[in-house]
Amino acid sequence: MTVRIAPSLLSADWARLAEAVAICEAGGADWIHLDVMDGCFVPNLTFGARFIETVRSLTDLPLDVHMMVVEPEKYFEDFARAGATGLSIHVETAPHLHRQLSRIKELGCKAGAVINPATPVEALREVAADLDVLLVMSVNPGFGGQQFIAHSLDKVSRARAMLAAARSPAALEIDGGISRETITACWRSGADTFVAGHAVFAARDPVAEIRALRDLCRAVV
Ligand code: DX5
Ligand code: ZN
Repeated sequence: MTVRIAPSLLSADWARLAEAVAICEAGGADWIHLDVMDGCFVPNLTFGARFIETVRSLTDLPLDVHMMVVEPEKYFEDFARAGATGLSIHVETAPHLHRQLSRIKELGCKAGAVINPATPVEALREVAADLDVLLVMSVNPGFGGQQFIAHSLDKVSRARAMLAAARSPAALEIDGGISRETITACWRSGADTFVAGHAVFAARDPVAEIRALRDLCRAVV
């Protein structure tokens, strides 16, 4: 399995956004993770299409947009036009998940579904074969720098089994509290794509940190 590291710009210094994006590139990041929050689904606000467009103007790396918003479909077109590569929506805000995932694909983006810590993996069974990304939250969404919820490891292994049963090639992504301390266990459990915000951007050498996270997975045989 390929390891993908997806630094989250949530914890970067936005006054030096271009530098943060350059750090991702220099560290060999596979995706850049962008956390859109609406102050309604989650108790925090971040950014929308304009920010995505700005990041797109700075890099050709895939932009992995994590939509923590109610009625995400309102923003699909704008975000696709802004240059998003993938749009991931929470099942907790998606009563018509199948239709919403289809719409994301129609717009030429990778379709992802996200589950909160309290949402069962089972909620994605019927769409498993349609997913490009299955994202397991390992913290309650809304903020960077939170502590990894250990129970997420078991969820990741069940999600891996579910994707295998559906013969889905979807990326299995994990988001929240990923660091040198937690990444190896997540990789062993079956995750292949790792979001890291605080761990990367609070590190003394963020470029080296991205590399170190990848190397820890590679070291596992
Ligand atoms: C949290 C966001 C995460 C966040 C992760 O709601 O979805 O992507 O940036 O941050 P860390 O890696 O600091 O837990
Ligand atoms: Zn995220």
